Amino acid sequence: MSKILINGGNSLKGEVNISGAKNAAVAILPAIILAQDVCVVENIPSISDVEMMIRILHQLGAKIKKVDDTTYEIDSSTIDSYVVSYEMTKRLRASYYLYGALLGRFGRANVAIPGGCPFCVRPIDQHVKAFETLGAQVNLSEQSMLEITANELIGSTIFFDVVSVGATINAMLAAVKAKGVTIIENAAKEPHIVDLANFLNTMGADVRGAGTDTIKIYGVEYLHGCTYSIIPDQIEAGTFMVAAAATKGEVLIKNVIPKHLESITKKLVECGVDIVEFDDSVFVRAKGRLKNCKIKTSPHPGFPTDMQPQFVTMLAMCEGTSHMHENVWEYRFQYIEHLNRMGANITTNGSIAVIEGVEELKGAIVAADDLRAGAAMIIAGLLAEGTTTIENVDHIDRGYVDVVGKFRSLGADIWRVEEDTPTVLKAEAV
Ligand code: EPU
Repeated sequence: MSKILINGGNSLKGEVNISGAKNAAVAILPAIILAQDVCVVENIPSISDVEMMIRILHQLGAKIKKVDDTTYEIDSSTIDSYVVSYEMTKRLRASYYLYGALLGRFGRANVAIPGGCPFCVRPIDQHVKAFETLGAQVNLSEQSMLEITANELIGSTIFFDVVSVGATINAMLAAVKAKGVTIIENAAKEPHIVDLANFLNTMGADVRGAGTDTIKIYGVEYLHGCTYSIIPDQIEAGTFMVAAAATKGEVLIKNVIPKHLESITKKLVECGVDIVEFDDSVFVRAKGRLKNCKIKTSPHPGFPTDMQPQFVTMLAMCEGTSHMHENVWEYRFQYIEHLNRMGANITTNGSIAVIEGVEELKGAIVAADDLRAGAAMIIAGLLAEGTTTIENVDHIDRGYVDVVGKFRSLGADIWRVEEDTPTVLKAEAV
């Protein structure tokens, strides 16, 4: 397994291009199953979560052609299976989208309960509620396979008890070909929900209201192929914004939708960061010591939980006392132990982290315990004096395209080594 090493202290400078959105790609790829036809999808990020989803589609029988680095042509007409084993789902949380997509196509899905980022318990009761509301029977087998069947899916009103991105997407996937009208109340509003709705509509679906609390879906009998380009990754962009600010850098972050970054931008500005928004890029510049702030994570358009670890890392070296209230996941602060070993002064009490700004962090051996914790460790390494070694970087590979290359292009002293390679190797030698 690889490690990432960083010699901290460099300010990030230059330009970086943001890739397609992971959480949109992992929803749009399974949605292709619904169209018994050929779809060409552009701006697909080269990350291991996407590779895994492509492998699953291939295993189900799809014909897949990689047109270029970020474009795939996928023919789903040849898919003839609705069974996906734990071997395929154990590393991919988003494999739960296969429930909705296979159910919509075949009236059946037999898919193992997924794995994914291990930061806390991740229930799927709201997904199950959506399928049952549409008329499906759901059964968990002894082998942890979720077996879902429906003679016919019938449009109905689904009222979610909590705002859930995954359950909203699964309800949309199952409902687009259901008979009649489905109304999803208390729906999630993330940019990738809107992107999926746009993709489904491009295939001939009739999905209205995505991006609001209420989504209305008029079931159609048939979906056709299309060409579609995925939106830029909000969280990758946010990660580079925070890294630029934390290192007192000057970075132009290109290929973004500034509106999707609003909650991140506002908090950075509150901390004293200069941000200039252009049509499809943002310029981030920071000088001197940044100020403390208080943040509560919440579903979109609130501050995203997936930016929480990166922001806490920046706040670890800001002036005064900051507070982070994690409202989406029960406990997503495991990574703080690594930051404190690097010299941060952060205490947690349930869902709240209290961050006392320190003057310096010191390099250490740390781990990417999950995807965003891994991003936080990179930012910590950029800030720390000396060398930081990050282990378990396969978590980072799940969601960041060429993370080492992109940070190096901004002037970071960062490199990657394989497990059996001596870690004293310098960047230039790799
Ligand atoms: N929840 C339930 N029941 C459910 C589903 C969710 O109680 O059936 C609760 C969860 O426990 C959590 C809250 O609802 O407290 C929100 O969970 P949600 O379902 O929105 O999360 P998800 O769909 O499993 C997606 C992203 C996550 C991101 C969350 C929140 C994908 C593939 N994953 O997860 O992304 O943290 O939404 O925005 O889209 C990441 O990219 O690093 C990542 C973890």
